[in-house]
Amino acid sequence: MRLDVVTIFPEYLEPLNVSLVGKARARGQLDVHVHDLRDWTYDRHNTVDDTPYGGGPGMVMKTDPWGDALDQTLADGYEGGAHGPVLVVPTPSGRPFTQELAVELSERPWLIFTPARYEGIDRRVMDEYATRMPVYEVSIGDYVLAGGEAAVLVVTEAVARLLPGVLGNAESHRDDSFAPGAMANLLEGPVYTKPPEWRGRGIPDVLLSGHHGKIARWRRDEAFRRTAAHRPDLIERCDPAAFDKKDREILSMMGWAPEPGGRFWRRLDDVEE
Ligand code: ADE
Repeated sequence: MRLDVVTIFPEYLEPLNVSLVGKARARGQLDVHVHDLRDWTYDRHNTVDDTPYGGGPGMVMKTDPWGDALDQTLADGYEGGAHGPVLVVPTPSGRPFTQELAVELSERPWLIFTPARYEGIDRRVMDEYATRMPVYEVSIGDYVLAGGEAAVLVVTEAVARLLPGVLGNAESHRDDSFAPGAMANLLEGPVYTKPPEWRGRGIPDVLLSGHHGKIARWRRDEAFRRTAAHRPDLIERCDPAAFDKKDREILSMMGWAPEPGGRFWRRLDDVEE
């Protein structure tokens, strides 16, 4: 997979040399190119922003540096044999970045990221490139960062670990919380490793029992409990046909009740925080 990132802070992308993404690069599984947007400015101050039409606070990133940078990035990529580019524009007003979207992006051969600063990029840039390639405007969460670079790191890491051969164990993302198709997208429960006792704290006996069926049941119960506590929205979205007797007991203990249609809702009146 080829990745291009155009940014006014190339040094912010240094973590792409480290850990899983760094190793994928070193192995040739990821071909990463980071570009300085200011290389496509031609005035003395290397200006990339200007005041917004219509007034208001902040500055807007100008069309010309982005247009020239993207034209050149595309030309260089095609010349280097890349194909099928997708433009990924991090913005708090984008669609939520989910595991499903990570899987979709991991299947594309070429991602071009345009992390913005200030109030964002002049709309015409996205409209222009949308005539030539898919444009994904993505938000990594309901909070506002100072710029899109951290979002590029998040998206890249989520995508890179899905590429064939990048994670050591091919099984390792099948069980991910949020893996598409995972039963009800349960969050993963707690995990333990040696030593068996630490500061007076042991580990659950069942994990030492060697009984695979019981261990699987325990893991599911823990995942279920955690999901109900931290992400009630995921439980509410579930088809209740996927819940077994034990799941229902856990939900009931945690203050959930089935409504007549069968879906589970949290009884807010008797939930302890
Ligand atoms: N830029 C600023 N905030 C962002 C967010 N939440 N997601 C993606 N890009 C952003």
